[in-house]
Amino acid sequence: MGKLLKGIGNSGEIKNFYDEWSNTYDKSLNQWDYKAPKQAALILKKYLENNPKYLLDLACGTGLFAQEIRKIFPTIICDGTDISKKIMNISLQKGLYRNLYLSSFEKNIKSDDNYNVVSLIGGMTYCANYQLLFKRVYNYLKNKGYFIFTHRVDIWRKFNFDEFLKLNDDKFEIIYKSKPVNYLPKNKDFGTKVKIRIVLLSKKRKRA
Ligand SMILES: C[S@@+](CC[C@H](N)C(=O)[O-])C[C@H]1O[C@@H](n2cnc3c(N)ncnc32)[C@H](O)[C@@H]1O
Repeated sequence: MGKLLKGIGNSGEIKNFYDEWSNTYDKSLNQWDYKAPKQAALILKKYLENNPKYLLDLACGTGLFAQEIRKIFPTIICDGTDISKKIMNISLQKGLYRNLYLSSFEKNIKSDDNYNVVSLIGGMTYCANYQLLFKRVYNYLKNKGYFIFTHRVDIWRKFNFDEFLKLNDDKFEIIYKSKPVNYLPKNKDFGTKVKIRIVLLSKKRKRA
């Protein structure tokens, strides 16, 4: 699992890694005290003024975020995407999502829905092109829709993510940016050394 910390490789290797891990993923994450899905759902509870109708959960994995957001907004309709078919099959078995798309979050999914919320929890690490991802998310969202994501603080610093967010401030307003919080505190490689931020953005109206 040291790979998880240092990086897995290209998208084929990432897909195989999660395919192989899929059956024990939930158990591992539970043992490592992974709380990001719950924390992100609570942030939405705090900041959203209306109940969101549609969620697009990018890199949905086994559906841990959908499980948490449905506790807070029980009527929300969730769609999900992932590159690992096997991990997405676990979500399918849990019956959490209306539609599941086997697709990279850097590719466009053909969905007619305008989403109120787009999420990317625990997956930003695998993004090779932030600008492309943000363009996709912008197009998936309704006006004033929300993008909630987590990002590892070490990678945030390496790629000057604050500067990247500033460059996108014509498209997204920062509603909330958490302080660094533990990611997988009970995993021996991550411990309290690797932190994440949880960020909530809201889509700005296009200028006329
Ligand atoms: C750490 S897991 C997080 C899963 C889930 N969101 C959660 O919080 O438990 C990372 C997920 O990202 C997926 N993934 C990696 N690269 C991806 C990509 N380019 N597009 C979509 N999903 C991707 C993996 O298959 C895996 O399911």
